[in-house]
Amino acid sequence: MQVISDIAMLRARSPGEPLAFVPTMGNLHEGHLSLIRLARRHAPRVAASIFVNRLQFAPGEDFERYPRTFASDCEKLAAEGVELVFAPDERTLYPEPQVYVVEPPPLANELEGKFRARFFHGVTTVVLKLFNCVQPACAVFGKKDYQQLMIVRGMVRQFNLPIEIVAGETLREQDGLAMSSRNGYLSASERAEAPRLHQVLQHVKARLGDGERDFEGLGGEALRGLAAAGWKPDYVEVRRQDDLGTPGPADTRLAVPGAARLGSTRLIDKVEA
Ligand code: PAF
Repeated sequence: MQVISDIAMLRARSPGEPLAFVPTMGNLHEGHLSLIRLARRHAPRVAASIFVNRLQFAPGEDFERYPRTFASDCEKLAAEGVELVFAPDERTLYPEPQVYVVEPPPLANELEGKFRARFFHGVTTVVLKLFNCVQPACAVFGKKDYQQLMIVRGMVRQFNLPIEIVAGETLREQDGLAMSSRNGYLSASERAEAPRLHQVLQHVKARLGDGERDFEGLGGEALRGLAAAGWKPDYVEVRRQDDLGTPGPADTRLAVPGAARLGSTRLIDKVEA
């Protein structure tokens, strides 16, 4: 496995078969590895990146304490047969203040964007830069970060990038908690409580399945359930699955994304309904 931190060296590598690319911020868990395995089904060679992107963290968020586990990440990627890891440092990817940024669509100001100002500006800008560096044929994004997946897909379409975006399923712990690097922040008692977010979303899904069409009412009920259990919920909403737009009563393909804070840890999840 080649680990490359330099953009010129990355570009100079021998052009070979198409690359499937999995961008990550490191601290890899089974969820990431499932995306690597999915990538392998889409191209003969797999590349991953490890870069904690300051641009997508607001002041006061967890950029500084975000877990950095480079050596064990590389071991895991090597064990999966990954051919190439792009691991630039900040000065390589942002040698000067990044004053050119991608302007994401209005969806970027809803859901996650309502609570994390300019988060998607940071995500789309780094993803565009990573795509330009790695030049993959396809790239894999997890469905847990569903809004990110939708917004990256739109960016690729509108900027005519020759990259297929592939969506990977969310991997869960046995009790339903979506796998996430941020789960490591949870104390033992918070970890025991954490599956509630998924349970609440599943309950909304069940009510939708029973024919309930008061989407706002369902979201409000979910928020109250989380708050009653000691969470600080940001949002739980029923949206259209295909574009995360606001659904009408006749829409059948729905998604229920949610985010809430448990202690100092912010967790997100999403189910399809
Ligand atoms: O999903 C993530 O880990 C990050 O948002 C990404 C896509 C690697 C960009 O920094």
